[in-house]
Amino acid sequence: ANETNIKLIWYYNNVLGRPEKKKIISRWRGYHGSGIMTGSLTGLDLFHNAFDLPRAPVLHTEAPYYFRRADRSLSEEQFSQYCADKLEEMILAEGPDTVAAFIGEPILGTGGIVPPPALYWEKIQAVLKKYDVLLVADEVVTGFGRLGTMFGSDHYGIKPDLITIAKGLTSAYAPLSGVTVADKVWQVLVQGSDKLGSLGHGWTYSAHPICVAAGVANLELIDELDLVTNAGETGAYFRAELAKAVGGHKNVGEVRGDGMLAALEFVADKDDRVFFDASQKIGPQVATTLAASGVIGRAMPQGDILGFAPPLCLTREEADIVVSKTADAVKSVFATI
Ligand SMILES: Cc1ncc(COP(=O)(O)O)c(C=O)c1O
Repeated sequence: ANETNIKLIWYYNNVLGRPEKKKIISRWRGYHGSGIMTGSLTGLDLFHNAFDLPRAPVLHTEAPYYFRRADRSLSEEQFSQYCADKLEEMILAEGPDTVAAFIGEPILGTGGIVPPPALYWEKIQAVLKKYDVLLVADEVVTGFGRLGTMFGSDHYGIKPDLITIAKGLTSAYAPLSGVTVADKVWQVLVQGSDKLGSLGHGWTYSAHPICVAAGVANLELIDELDLVTNAGETGAYFRAELAKAVGGHKNVGEVRGDGMLAALEFVADKDDRVFFDASQKIGPQVATTLAASGVIGRAMPQGDILGFAPPLCLTREEADIVVSKTADAVKSVFATI
């Protein structure tokens, strides 16, 4: 779906007679896939190293990662302003006529489950609007309820021009992804078809009936079981309990998340925010210890971060089990360090 987005964005600017407006700005720590172009969008070194990805039309700007901000004196709002200023500097340095789109997950997912700092999306969207840069919300993780709203864009007040959808569309019972486009983009695609003929894009398995049927059945269940509300309410309970259970631990630098997404970030020294050396593999050790007790947490790829993305149907009783097993795993790993 993100490959499709890139093609639609390039096509859009060609139809509008702006052949130079093609660069796409992504963020460090953003995750948008591991294909040739989508791997370039992803802002994690691991996904670039030694793969000869094109990278050329893709630029990466500041990650909205308040906990890891370089200048610790900044408030959240000041840090959001800093991110927006960095974005504007990049657009101006490249030339606004060459920048087509900005892509971001409403909340950073694979990059560390990092909610945006206060006013981040307001400030970013103001810059994009100023330079006529399209906004792609990659809602592969946040679409269909994960943040307690149907879309992450609703949750954070984002007004995207294109939305990437996937995982939650079928709850992964069958593979299905998609792109939704705002009317502004749609109108240009229609003009394109009038000028150039059919849109030359599609896949053998586009709109595959089995996957689409799974998607429809899944979306009906999301409504019937009111899973979006549960994601918001039980997710908030889960994160609060997690913070109570491990937030005070000397090696837990931050407990964060939103909706039914949570993460712990481990640090060697909390007051001075000193991180562990990656070679110590602290995050993977906690994840492995936790898995041995029957709970799946994910060691995120860049940093000692343990992530949780429980099913939207999680109950409070199940959340309690996850929390207590996590507290045990954290205690047991740090007792040996
Ligand atoms: C936000 C986001 N976008 C895109 C993708 C890529 O999906 P796939 O691995 O199916 O290419 C992922 C996968 O985790 C994701 O989290």
